[in-house]
Amino acid sequence: MQAKMQTRAVSGRAAARSRVSTTKVVCRALNSMESPYAEELKKTAAYISQKGKGILASDESNATTGKRLESVGVENTEDNRRAWRELLYTAPGLGQYISGAIMFEETLYQKARDGRQFVDILLAQGIYPGIKVDTGLQILPGDKGETTTQGLDGLADRCKAYRKQGARFAKWRAVVKIGEAGCPSTTAVLENAHGLARYAQICQENGLVPIVEPEVTLGPGDYSIEETAFWSERVYSHTMRLLNEYGVVLEGILLKPNMCLPGLDAPVASPQLVAEVTTRTMMRSIPPAVPGIHFLSGGMSEEESTLNLQALNEACPNAPWALTFSYGRALQSSTLKTWAGKESNWAAAQDILLKLAKANSEASTGSFKGPHPVPGGGRILQALRTGGAGK
Ligand code: 13P
Repeated sequence: MQAKMQTRAVSGRAAARSRVSTTKVVCRALNSMESPYAEELKKTAAYISQKGKGILASDESNATTGKRLESVGVENTEDNRRAWRELLYTAPGLGQYISGAIMFEETLYQKARDGRQFVDILLAQGIYPGIKVDTGLQILPGDKGETTTQGLDGLADRCKAYRKQGARFAKWRAVVKIGEAGCPSTTAVLENAHGLARYAQICQENGLVPIVEPEVTLGPGDYSIEETAFWSERVYSHTMRLLNEYGVVLEGILLKPNMCLPGLDAPVASPQLVAEVTTRTMMRSIPPAVPGIHFLSGGMSEEESTLNLQALNEACPNAPWALTFSYGRALQSSTLKTWAGKESNWAAAQDILLKLAKANSEASTGSFKGPHPVPGGGRILQALRTGGAGK
C-alpha cells in the first residue's frame, strides 16, 4: 500500500515537472518570438511611441481621399493625391512631432516632384513609413449593419513587398458599432478580435509592427459614455486575449483605440470625464507590455482631439504606455482646407499642419497650454465606408 502511494507520489511529481517544463518551453517561444525580426519590432514600436511624438494617419483609400479633395474643389486624380501627400510629408520639421506616417498602398510607392521617394523623405525626417494592409469593411450577415474587416488573403506576401519598399509598420482597422439595440453582437466582437490577431501575427512574422485598431465607433444615438466604456473594455479584452492566443508579442505592437465618448446625440463630455473613463477602460483591459496607445481622432474636432489627449495625460501622468495620437482628420482637415489645391497656399497649409502636430505632441506629454491653432471647430464626421478599400 505504502509502496503504491510512493509510486503515485513520484509519478505525480514527474507529471508536475513535465507540466512546468512544457510551460517553460511555451514561455520561451513566446518571449523570444522566434521571428528573425523580434528585436527590431520591439525597437520600432518603442521608437514610434517615443515621448512627445505621434502618428500621422494619411492612409485614406483613393475613394476617400477623392471625396476629401473634391470637398475643396480638387479633382481626384493620382497626381493630385500625390501632391496632397507631398505637402504633408515635406512639411519642414514635421519629424519633431511625428514618428510614423501611415500610407495607402498607392502612396507608399509614390515620389515627390523632385523625384525623391516618399519613404525616403519620411525617413529623412525621422518618420517611419507605415502601410494600411486591410482591404476595407464588409457588412456581416444580419440587419444591424455590423462589420468585419477584410485583407488576410495574400497578406504575408504583401507584408514582404511593403517591407522591401521601406514600410516598418502596418495598420488594420476593425470597427465595432454600438448604440443600437443588439449591437455589438458577440459575433461582431469575436470576429473583429480574431481578424486583428491573425493580422498582427502575420505582420510580426514578416517584419512589420502591427497597429491593432479596434475602433468602437462614435455614432448616432444618445448612449452614455459609460456604455461606450463598457463595450470598449469588452472589445479590447477580447482583442488582447486573441493576440495572446496567436502568440503576438505585445512589446512589438501599437494599439490604436477610440477614446470613450458618449453618442453623437448626447451632450459632449468634458475632457476630464473623457480622460477619467478612458483611463479606467485602458487600465482594465490593456497590458502594460504594450508600448503605445495611439488614439484615433474618430470624428472629434481638431481642438477636442487635443484637449482630450491633454486631459488623458494629466489624469494619468505615470501611465505604463505612451498615451499619444494617430490622428487622420484631426491633423489633416484644416490643412486640406487651407491648401485647397493652390500652390500659393502650400506653405500656409504646411504651417497649419505643423501647428496641429505640435499641439498634439504637447498634449501627449500633458504640456499643451493653448491657444489651439484651430479653436472651436465642429465634429469631422464621415459615413461608414464599407465594401471598398476602407478608411
Ligand atoms: P481619424 O483620426 O480620422 O479617425 O483616422 C484615424 C485612422 O487612421 C482610422 O483608421
